[in-house]
Amino acid sequence: MYGEYPTKDIGWASQINPGPYSQRMAEPILTIRPGNPDFLDLPWETSLKEWDLDHRVDLPKGISRHEVQFYQYPEGLFVVKELPTAPARNDYEILRRLQSRTVSAVTPVGLVVNRHQDRGAEQSAALITAWAEFTFSYRELIAGAGFAGNRTRMLDAFAELLVELHLAGCYWGDCSLSNVLYRWDAGTIETIMVDAETSTLRDDGNMSDGRRLEDIEIMKVNVAGGMADIAAESKKPIDEADLFLGEEIADVYYRLWDELKGDEVIPANEQYRVQERIRRVNRLGFDVDEVDVIPVDGGSNLRLHLRVGGKTFHSNRLRELTGIDALENQARQILSDLYHFQATEDIRTPTLKNVSSIKWRMSQFEPVMERIRETEGISDPLQAYCDVLHHRYVVSAEQGRDVETEEAFEDWLAKGRPGYPEEWTPPEV
Ligand SMILES: Nc1ncnc2c1ncn2[C@@H]1O[C@H](COP(=O)(O)OP(=O)(O)OP(=O)(O)O)[C@@H](O)[C@H]1O
Ligand SMILES: [Mg+2]
Repeated sequence: MYGEYPTKDIGWASQINPGPYSQRMAEPILTIRPGNPDFLDLPWETSLKEWDLDHRVDLPKGISRHEVQFYQYPEGLFVVKELPTAPARNDYEILRRLQSRTVSAVTPVGLVVNRHQDRGAEQSAALITAWAEFTFSYRELIAGAGFAGNRTRMLDAFAELLVELHLAGCYWGDCSLSNVLYRWDAGTIETIMVDAETSTLRDDGNMSDGRRLEDIEIMKVNVAGGMADIAAESKKPIDEADLFLGEEIADVYYRLWDELKGDEVIPANEQYRVQERIRRVNRLGFDVDEVDVIPVDGGSNLRLHLRVGGKTFHSNRLRELTGIDALENQARQILSDLYHFQATEDIRTPTLKNVSSIKWRMSQFEPVMERIRETEGISDPLQAYCDVLHHRYVVSAEQGRDVETEEAFEDWLAKGRPGYPEEWTPPEV
């Protein structure tokens, strides 16, 4: 039923223990993606609210209509959400299909249906996702100290996530503060979609403008509601609530969409502008899959129409050159370190460029990463590496000389690891 991926269907014979559940006559059916626990230890025939299990972990989370719980297994940390069958299936299916696209969304791990005779009952189904590592919810970001400094980062990232989804042909239908998870990505914030119950995804990737605008309107209402809740919780009057955050996210969205997708007309004898446009889009982190160049005005002008891919330009480039997997802005920062290194190397041919990339990895990157991994209390080593690079820049500027990464690392440790997420401590797991 779920296409491309092999899945395990495990029917449970609830007749083995008819007890109080016999009148429901439901036999839970589990569909679990390979490489994960089988989750047969969980008592699916009862509601999550009744579960009292040792491997449950308490973690901060966003507001949710449904019961959401976290469970630790040797394979990792998983999130179980209880909800009626139709939205559970939709959530699972959309998240699964988004995995093959370049959109940041949580990883679906399994779907449990037939938990209750009534498919519309809250406990009739459950969705299992992998806990998104190093993430935090908007409450930690907004309610914590220092939000003023992170507000712009947050709204840029939020708008970018909507752009990415719309480029992939995904209508969200319920974009809100708590349906997005946040993660530090070098000096910026990266956003991850967490809830696809109401989403639709078009195979051809085309989405009408009307549908996009509808999504933006829903986002504005939801974000204003979320900000009003936060103000109410902290007992602030409503006029002190940041109710226009959603409007600003929408403005950033429109500007970005226009830059990526707006058609541009150039004179036919200025074709170099095609490359310029592609470079501009790449600088924003987005890949350009194709450019349509259409003659207009009797051939004197050309209309450019871009097919834009995901926001993975720098992360793809870093992976190709060095094999390192990083988030987009982390990759951008690490690439400038690599280019800085290569500027001192003799690289006249593509082969020499590849050799020097590997040399950089072995002589510059790995030794510092090893030190970072050995340091206690660092949960996200690659993010720490980016913090060290940033620190190296600060110290070099202060001292008016190029400081080596290892030297910067020592100083970074000595100064109490100054980094971007100063106001944030990762949740204890
Ligand atoms: N895979 C995950 N990794 C980390 N946190 C998660 C994950 N899935 C859910 N959460 C946390 O649980 C919260 C609720 O999840 P979700 O939005 O899917 O529930 P919901 O009940 O469907 O919400 P809604 O009220 O929007 O319908 C999220 O805001 C997030 O904090
Ligand atoms: Mg939600």
